[in-house]
Amino acid sequence: MHNRILIIGTSGQVGWELCQCMPPLGEMIGADRQQLKLANYAIDLANPDSIRSVIRQIKPNIIINAAAYTAVDKAETEAELAHKINGVAPGILAEVCLELDALLVHYSTDYVFNGQQNRAYVEEDAVNPIGVYGRTKLAGEQAVSAVGGKYLILRTAWVYGLHGKNFLLTMQHLATERKELKVVSDQIGSPTWSRMIAQATSHIIAKLDSPFYQANIEELAGLYHITCGGETSWYQFAKNIVALSDKQPTVLPIKTVDYPTPAKRPAYSVLSNKKLVNTFGINLPHWEQALNLCLS
Ligand SMILES: NC(=O)c1ccc[n+]([C@@H]2O[C@H](COP(=O)([O-])OP(=O)(O)OC[C@H]3O[C@@H](n4cnc5c(N)ncnc54)[C@H](OP(=O)(O)O)[C@@H]3O)[C@@H](O)[C@H]2O)c1
Repeated sequence: MHNRILIIGTSGQVGWELCQCMPPLGEMIGADRQQLKLANYAIDLANPDSIRSVIRQIKPNIIINAAAYTAVDKAETEAELAHKINGVAPGILAEVCLELDALLVHYSTDYVFNGQQNRAYVEEDAVNPIGVYGRTKLAGEQAVSAVGGKYLILRTAWVYGLHGKNFLLTMQHLATERKELKVVSDQIGSPTWSRMIAQATSHIIAKLDSPFYQANIEELAGLYHITCGGETSWYQFAKNIVALSDKQPTVLPIKTVDYPTPAKRPAYSVLSNKKLVNTFGINLPHWEQALNLCLS
C-alpha cells in the first residue's frame, strides 16, 4: 500500500527522529507550528481550523502526532493553552483521521499517573495526574479514544536525545560549567532515547501494513506503554551521562523537596512494556544500553 505519512511536530525530539526513519515506509510530509526545516506545512494545534484545513488538503493515510505542549512547569500557569494543544487537538486529529479512514499515532506520558505505586504501571492502572501537563495529556488520550477508529496512543517517559531540549543536553552543558551538580534521587522512571521511540513507531507501522495486522486493526487500536527498559533516578541518569562526558563534575543526590518546581512530578513512573512486546514483538533496549548507543 502507498502510505502518505503526516508527521506533526517535526522540530521536536521525537518528531525529528521520526523524520529520519519514516521515509522507507512511504511518502513523508512534515508539519509544525512554523513551516521551517523539515516541515512542509504549518499547523497550529491550538487552532482547530488550522488542523482540519491543513490535514484535509494533505489527505494522509497515517498521522503521527509528535507535537505537544511539553513545558511541564510552565503549563501550571498556561493551563488553557496546554489544554488546547494536549487535550483538545488530539481529539480533532482523531476525528479527521476517522473521516479519512487514516491511522492516528499519538504520544502520551507517564505523568498521567500519580507515582504512588511501587511496581511498573500497566495500561489498565488507574490514572491520576498530579499536574496540569499530565491532566491535559490525559484529556488528549481520552479525546482520542472517545472518537475511536484506527488509533494508537503510545505512552512514553523521560525522553532525551541529541536533538531538542532535554535532560541529557542540559547535564552535558552544566558539566562544562560546574564542578558539582545536584540532582534529585527520589524520582524513579525510565530514560527513553527519542530515536528508540521513533524506530519502534516505524516498526509498529510497518507491521500494521501486513495483512494479518490489517485484518485485526480495530482490536489492536488502543493504548500502549513504550519506554526503554530498566528504571533509575534522575541522579543516577546524570551520573551515567557525566561518566560519558569530557568534563566530569561531582554529581550529588538531593531530594525533590530540596529542589522545588512549579509542577509536582510523580515519584515513581516506570511503565511496563509487556503489552507492546506481546502485541508487536517490539522490545526497547535497557536505558543504559540506549544511553551508551546515543552517546557513542
Ligand atoms: N519530553 C519528555 O520527556 C516526554 C515524556 C513523556 C511523554 N512525552 C510526549 O512525547 C511526545 C513528543 O515529545 P517531545 O519531547 O519530542 O516534544 P518536544 O521536543 O518538546 O517537541 C514538541 C513539538 O511540538 C511542537 N508544538 C508545540 N506547540 C505546538 C502547536 N501549538 N502547534 C504545533 N506544534 C506545536 C513544537 O514546535 P515548536 O518547536 O514550534 O515549539 C515541537 O515540534 C509528546 O506527546 C510528549 O507529550 C514527552
